[in-house]
Amino acid sequence: MLTEAHKQAIRRSWQLVEPIGETAADLFYKRLFELAPAYRRLFPDDLAPQKRKLLAMLKFIVRAMDWSDDAWRDTVDVDEDLFLVVLALGRRHVDLYHVPDASYDAVGAALLWTLDYGLGEAFTTETRDAWARVYGLLAQTMKMGRCARGEGSATALRANDG
Ligand code: HEM
Repeated sequence: MLTEAHKQAIRRSWQLVEPIGETAADLFYKRLFELAPAYRRLFPDDLAPQKRKLLAMLKFIVRAMDWSDDAWRDTVDVDEDLFLVVLALGRRHVDLYHVPDASYDAVGAALLWTLDYGLGEAFTTETRDAWARVYGLLAQTMKMGRCARGEGSATALRANDG
């Protein structure tokens, strides 16, 4: 899980990344397609909208770090619920974008590389560890989204109805 120290490290480093978000997004995709050229064809030719959406999603995720550990007890709007948003994101990645599970490794490596390059000395071991954990949790949850497919569950339920 994430400790308060991890959350602080994420918040602090995001404050440095956000102002250079566009450059960071350029670097991220450049690095991703160097590491795994085959994934380029999964994306449209024009990456600009995708870069904006990725930055917006990362911003939302970082903001969710501000929730207190007890916040899960509160009624949260579906659009604001980090877990539901990330599950749905994972499901779109399988159903709409045909992203294989194996690609999460290359994307994680490209993300850490970008942060290292962009943040320089500010990318301390602690900060790296914090981002690696966050990415691991996100990737795990997104892959779970695949199991949350309506069709599959409905079929399974009907089969169990006898
Ligand atoms: C933590 C991991 C990831 C995050 C936060 C993330 C975030 C996003 C976001 C916000 C979008 C915009 C569309 C939408 O919201 O449905 C998107 C689209 C997409 N992502 Fe990811 N993504 C992740 C992992 C991956 C991985 C592992 C791949 C594999 C190469 C990938 C490939 C794509 C593709 C192909 C699209 C669709 C582009 C399009 O057709 O416009 N993503 N992603």
